[in-house]
Amino acid sequence: ISLKSLHTFQLPYKAATMVAITSAEQLSQLEDDYWVLGEGSNTIFTTDFIKPLVRILIRGIEITETSDTYDVSVGAGENWHRFVTTMLDQDVKGLENLALIPGSVGAAPVQNIGAYGIEVSRYIKSVDAWDRHECKLVTFTKAQCAFGYRDSIFKRSQGRFVITQVQFSFPKTWQATLSYGALAELPADASAQQIKAEVIRIRNAKLPNPNDIPNAGSFFKNPVISLEEFSALQERYPEIPSFAVDATQVKLAAGWLIDRLGLKGFQCGGARVHDKQALVLTNAGSATGADVLALARTVQERVQEHFGVTLEAEVRLLGAEELVHL
Ligand code: EPU
Repeated sequence: ISLKSLHTFQLPYKAATMVAITSAEQLSQLEDDYWVLGEGSNTIFTTDFIKPLVRILIRGIEITETSDTYDVSVGAGENWHRFVTTMLDQDVKGLENLALIPGSVGAAPVQNIGAYGIEVSRYIKSVDAWDRHECKLVTFTKAQCAFGYRDSIFKRSQGRFVITQVQFSFPKTWQATLSYGALAELPADASAQQIKAEVIRIRNAKLPNPNDIPNAGSFFKNPVISLEEFSALQERYPEIPSFAVDATQVKLAAGWLIDRLGLKGFQCGGARVHDKQALVLTNAGSATGADVLALARTVQERVQEHFGVTLEAEVRLLGAEELVHL
């Protein structure tokens, strides 16, 4: 099976077999040694893959109402952006800042996807998953999901849990989140549909459409450093962008660090730092897995040398049968 059209970075590798799952019950019938793939928008196959791949195609969106919330249960295989659009079209507000993020609903909690000041965890009530160790369906409350920045129990447990269904809860009283720099120009009374349109406009201007330029979104996580380290950096670079995390930590913009080193457009073989957003690496044509790893490691080394900051991968890099580390 060609993996090219199964991941948005479109490297030319192959997988041995693939199974599609349309209901949670079918997971109990699988032999255990498989790898779950969503829409492939955050996964990069750096070589041929030897384990069986499982695609989760569980569908369905069910909305119920309480006096103060809309509660929505969604199949993991629904497309994320279509789900956001469906909600807003039915006047269920909350996900507008997360419009156009590639991928499936089931992948959203794994990385705790976020953009423009909102993380998906804000609206998640619970997550249903198949536990591959215990061979049963389990439900995680929001607290049990242990969400963090691009992090959750699902990401840390290395494939043990296969998400089948996600439950959201949207308060009926809604307030726009316009705190993130890029949205600050909208009027304070902007509607959810207006915010969605603006988010789509900004994303289209900065982020490459994978159909035109194959990529997997942000390649690295934005690094979180201590206040002391930050003060030292700020002395050298007074204009360095940052976001407060808590009383002792600050999040830096990895894209700015990479950009500052003049690396936009830098290439290793066919792998390239995107010209408009340095945090995105792209397949400029005929890239290989080795090109991508070489580029990522070069960027990582340069940032380490120059700023003393360690970049970690945000994307999932796959070798022949498991994750590869940078
Ligand atoms: N910047 C530069 N040069 C660049 C890129 C960024 O100077 O080449 C500066 C920007 O001017 C801005 C700051 O860095 O001051 C942050 O840039 P941006 O707003 O584009 O966001 P980001 O930190 O690069 C994060 C998420 C994105 C998300 C945006 C918007 C991560 C790893 N990435 O990117 O998520 O869309 O914020 O909220 O947290 C993704 O995860 O795949 C993704 C695209």
